[in-house]
Amino acid sequence: MAKKLAVIGAGLMGSGIAQVSAQAGWDVVLRDVTDEALARGKGGIEASYEKFVAKGKLAASDAEQALARITTTTDLEATAEADIVVEAVFERIDVKREIFQTLDKLVKDEAVLASNTSAIPITKIAAATSRPERVVGAHFFSPVPMMQLCELVRGYKTSDETLATAREFAESVGKTCVVVNRDVAGFVTTRLISALVVEATKLYESGVASAEDIDTACKLGFGHAMGPLATADLTGIDILMHATDNIYTESQDEKFAPPEIMRRMVDAGDIGRKSGQGFYTH
Ligand SMILES: NC(=O)c1ccc[n+]([C@@H]2O[C@H](COP(=O)([O-])OP(=O)(O)OC[C@H]3O[C@@H](n4cnc5c(N)ncnc54)[C@H](O)[C@@H]3O)[C@@H](O)[C@H]2O)c1
Repeated sequence: MAKKLAVIGAGLMGSGIAQVSAQAGWDVVLRDVTDEALARGKGGIEASYEKFVAKGKLAASDAEQALARITTTTDLEATAEADIVVEAVFERIDVKREIFQTLDKLVKDEAVLASNTSAIPITKIAAATSRPERVVGAHFFSPVPMMQLCELVRGYKTSDETLATAREFAESVGKTCVVVNRDVAGFVTTRLISALVVEATKLYESGVASAEDIDTACKLGFGHAMGPLATADLTGIDILMHATDNIYTESQDEKFAPPEIMRRMVDAGDIGRKSGQGFYTH
């Protein structure tokens, strides 16, 4: 099995993916554009390993060995030997396409190129390369060391072999995969949370129930860990509205049209926890 991984982007997601992969025995090259970003990413990994060690969930020697398996670099060429590359840079299609175009020239032909995008169609990223059949979505969840899900997304040309390699990788780092067979906007997870948040917002907007009661209904009625409106506040109402609007634009399905109150909350800056006010006061 392939054991050399390159991770592009040492932010929240990239460092998390590097962390779980190194712990699972992968040799990881972690690449970002500045030494500061790399230091922050590696520092976060170290601190997280320390927490697991303190809780008795990881042996100190294993943490030390895992950390030694992570090399940081600002040089994209250092990824050339990778068997799998996972890209986790900003959610901007121009940035991602440029990276994939360069990776395509650098990385060996048989390597698989994966993107951790939450919403950009994999087909659009894959089209920047000469190997769209070896490009796949590998959508990890935050925080990566804690969240078990990896949503694997087939682009229009992704091969079965590529999907199998991505699955093997994600499972080797302890994740459970779900496969999105068609490259639809929002994949499976963002479509589900968007539909739920839109309907919860409509119920709230029309005065059918309070935010607290809508969330309590989902928690106690369906066993959700968190209600949809509290989730929207945590994620950022602006971010969720943007995601929902994207799905609506692509699918023209009315159920994803952001309700008016959601747009006004964003206009007013009431975007959830980060602003102190959303569906709840924080
Ligand atoms: N944050 C989440 O909860 C979450 C969950 C799932 C998926 N995602 C997706 O993961 C990706 C990364 O998100 P994040 O939250 O880690 O972002 P982040 O802002 O924490 O990190 C992005 C990193 O990419 C780096 N970067 C930018 N251009 C680069 C380049 N050309 N080469 C190398 N590094 C570069 C930045 O310096 C930064 O360190 C996005 O596509 C996002 O949609 C995020």
